[in-house]
Amino acid sequence: MNLYRIEKPFVFSIFGASGDLAKVKIFPALYDLAAQRRLPKEYVIFGYSRTPMSDEAFRKMVEKSVKGKSTLPMNQKILDELIRHMFYFSGQYDKPGSYNEFASKILLKTKGRKLTHLTYLAVPPQVFTKISKNLARIRPKIGEDLRLIIEKPFGHDEASAREIFHHVSMDFSSDKIFLLDHYLGKDAVQSILVLRYANSILNTLLNGNLISNIQITASEDLSVANRISYFDQVGIIKDMIQSHLLQMLSLLTMELPVEQKSESIHREKFAVLSALKYRGYEKGMVIGQHESYKNIEGVKKASWTPTFAAIRLFIDRQDWYKVPIYIRTGKMLKKKHTYVVVEFKKHAFQEKNNLIQNNKLIIELQPDQKIHVKLYTKTGGASSEYTDLTTSKSIACFGDDCLPEHGRLLLDVFQSDQSNFLTFEEIIATWKFTDKILRCSESKKVKLHLYEDYSDGPSQQDALTKRDGHHWHDVPLQKK
Ligand code: BG6
Repeated sequence: MNLYRIEKPFVFSIFGASGDLAKVKIFPALYDLAAQRRLPKEYVIFGYSRTPMSDEAFRKMVEKSVKGKSTLPMNQKILDELIRHMFYFSGQYDKPGSYNEFASKILLKTKGRKLTHLTYLAVPPQVFTKISKNLARIRPKIGEDLRLIIEKPFGHDEASAREIFHHVSMDFSSDKIFLLDHYLGKDAVQSILVLRYANSILNTLLNGNLISNIQITASEDLSVANRISYFDQVGIIKDMIQSHLLQMLSLLTMELPVEQKSESIHREKFAVLSALKYRGYEKGMVIGQHESYKNIEGVKKASWTPTFAAIRLFIDRQDWYKVPIYIRTGKMLKKKHTYVVVEFKKHAFQEKNNLIQNNKLIIELQPDQKIHVKLYTKTGGASSEYTDLTTSKSIACFGDDCLPEHGRLLLDVFQSDQSNFLTFEEIIATWKFTDKILRCSESKKVKLHLYEDYSDGPSQQDALTKRDGHHWHDVPLQKK
């Protein structure tokens, strides 16, 4: 197996190192890279947070989170080795003095060498620009190859995103900024483009003229209790649709880039994302809140925060403008299941033939990663019955080079590959679209439907597809 290994010594700093994101995603991802022997001999990892903590306590915290979260088998020797490279720095995010001290500590550990330095901002968006400004200030001391990784949420609306980008891009050139949406690190999401490149038969069919409708479903069987202070302010539309699901949609519906290079990919994604249209006003969405949401500590009894949303949208481009796209996502639903259904049109002369179903392409992203092509045929003889001739195949990664999302994306940053990251323009385009939906949902002209915990969400979602003569396709989960 040809594994990409990082050859050169590096520094990796995590801002917000005592927070949840670092514990749940970043430390385990670093362990995975170590376990696959992708790390060089020499490297230094710093945790940076305001909380005072010794190196020892930090290492214990890392060990605990890696043991709870890594997807790879635990090897204590590898973990001990990783932890030996880790140090903690307690500093303020907005005080230049903290960064001066931090720079000295870095140089002490690198023996004065200016190494490639990846910085990961696992902090709320309000502090992004403070950190980027201060990092840029110490860059001449610690080395020019300083890369900044920022994870979604990128602000809370178009204006706040513009504000962040305005400041960050004064501090860093665009090739050094990595805007991370972890969905783009998922195998199955990456495989959308691969499937299109590798199969002209499939790609030819991904054409608005041949498609009846597209449905994206992302249901989760948990609520948000441990992140309620964040979630209650943003709601499901910002949390899931604004980036994750619209990014997936763009990969599926964009023109196939002529080159598999980041500039070409971004150009095509932007063309779709900037053409998203929400036409339905109150009738173009269904929102809901799960029954026990208001019982979560910290949620006000009058909370209007949606935990479920189904949206009907269009892409204003020549081949697509008539194709309805339905996106639905919710918390505390019956199961965790993410999938895309592309439903093709029948032949024009067959539209009314109810014996034949529309062909479908189904891409399951999680928990299983599978692709299904639904075709139909007759069951031989004199029977007039049509039968399902579905071909299904797992597209899950196998072998010893598989990595969860953050591990994969960190490797891309080491390789300076922007293909699986976002651009400012894409993010602004999706915020423009999302802000429009939100203005409608927040106007309270749209009803917030209460739905039962562990259900399919509000039944009113059916009206959204029905108005175009369609219905939601509920893809069953395979039993293990
Ligand atoms: C995060 C959202 O970005 O994605 C969470 O903030 C959500 O609310 C999560 O649960 C879903 O990610 P995944 O990989 O579990 O589908």
